[in-house]
Amino acid sequence: MNILVTGGLGFIGSHTVVELTANNHEVIIVDNLSNSKIEVLDKLHQITGRRPAFHQIDVTDETQVEDIFLTHKIDGVIHFAGLKAVGESVSKPLEYYYNNLVSTMVLSKLCLKYDVGKFVFSSSATVYGDQPSPLKEEMALQKTTNPYGETKAISERILTDVSQANEGFSVSLLRYFNPVGAHESGLIGEDPHGIPNNLMPFVTKVAKGKLEGLSVFGNDYETVDGTGVRDYIHVMDLAEGHVKAIEKLSSGVNIYNLGTGRGISVLELVKAFMQVNHVEVPYEIVERRPGDVAICFADAGKAEEELGWKAKRSLEDMVRDAWKFEVNNS
Ligand code: NAD
Ligand code: UD1
Repeated sequence: MNILVTGGLGFIGSHTVVELTANNHEVIIVDNLSNSKIEVLDKLHQITGRRPAFHQIDVTDETQVEDIFLTHKIDGVIHFAGLKAVGESVSKPLEYYYNNLVSTMVLSKLCLKYDVGKFVFSSSATVYGDQPSPLKEEMALQKTTNPYGETKAISERILTDVSQANEGFSVSLLRYFNPVGAHESGLIGEDPHGIPNNLMPFVTKVAKGKLEGLSVFGNDYETVDGTGVRDYIHVMDLAEGHVKAIEKLSSGVNIYNLGTGRGISVLELVKAFMQVNHVEVPYEIVERRPGDVAICFADAGKAEEELGWKAKRSLEDMVRDAWKFEVNNS
């Protein structure tokens, strides 16, 4: 297939491009580089032996996106492009609603106009709100605690309504749990601008000595050791999930959790990181972070049953590959 990958130079998008190429799909990347670097294109070439088509455009710009639909024959779209910093979304809600919703509307509008019937969307486990894990796709969604989360819930609704009104437009809403790690080459990985908000990139920077110490947000949750529990998933497993999602897309609206189904605490992750990589990660326990839930992990059964996809990589793989990327790129 010829697949338009928006945000294809970002963290999850770039790893998915590797897997799509390995599965003989033709990739057309669009990205405005707001949270990625053009060098990733060279790295993709190095890893795959092929240089994907790339257009530096903003996916909220309908005229520019339409040019892509006119110049390339597109069979499907995987829409990663979006703003994703939860804290920033609270201080800049309009930027988040505009970027994340207009991009989804522009792309789905053009898919209808140019008869592109396959659409895969990056959603998040955040749409479940605070409900008991394991989280299942059929659970009712809860109001999220921030504008970022709302953009995911609203995008899911927009795509569902558009699909229900247009028989030939099938969508897959992929709810990611906590993507971490990097490609095993260490050439591409998670490279956030500024001080990271998420746990794994923070840990790698502390281990490297770029940040002084990790603050563990609370140790009084009802969990195995009192620290927050999440479903960390290796980004290459996630990438493989996207290939399956677009190849096996059924008609209508399809919703899948992409997680491992296993909860890991903050301290379990930090200890595995130190043990596997033989490095120190100094940490201290601080107050809980507002908006955090105690436990969040997937029921990953539906994706396995319907797509034949299952996360294969271990926590050791995740911490080893995340560290390899940090070491290679600093
Ligand atoms: P990322 O920031 O690394 O990648 C997003 C890419 O989109 C970046 O390269 C950025 O430059 C580009 N982009 C943003 N707005 C754009 C626009 N208007 N036009 C063109 N390009 C634009 O983020 P990621 O971690 O790879 O996440 C990809 C998607 O998955 C996002 O939609 C994110 O919300 C979603 N998601 C991520 C996580 C996570 O933990 N990383 C979890 C759940 C969902
Ligand atoms: C966060 C977002 C979520 C988003 C996801 C992926 C919030 C409230 N939620 O999820 O919407 O989809 O990222 O981008 O921000 N932790 C520490 N110290 C740190 C950082 C994190 O102890 O410096 C802990 C957190 O309290 C949590 C776990 O590590 O228990 C994971 O945190 P994080 O990586 O930020 O992901 P989520 O909170 O699950």
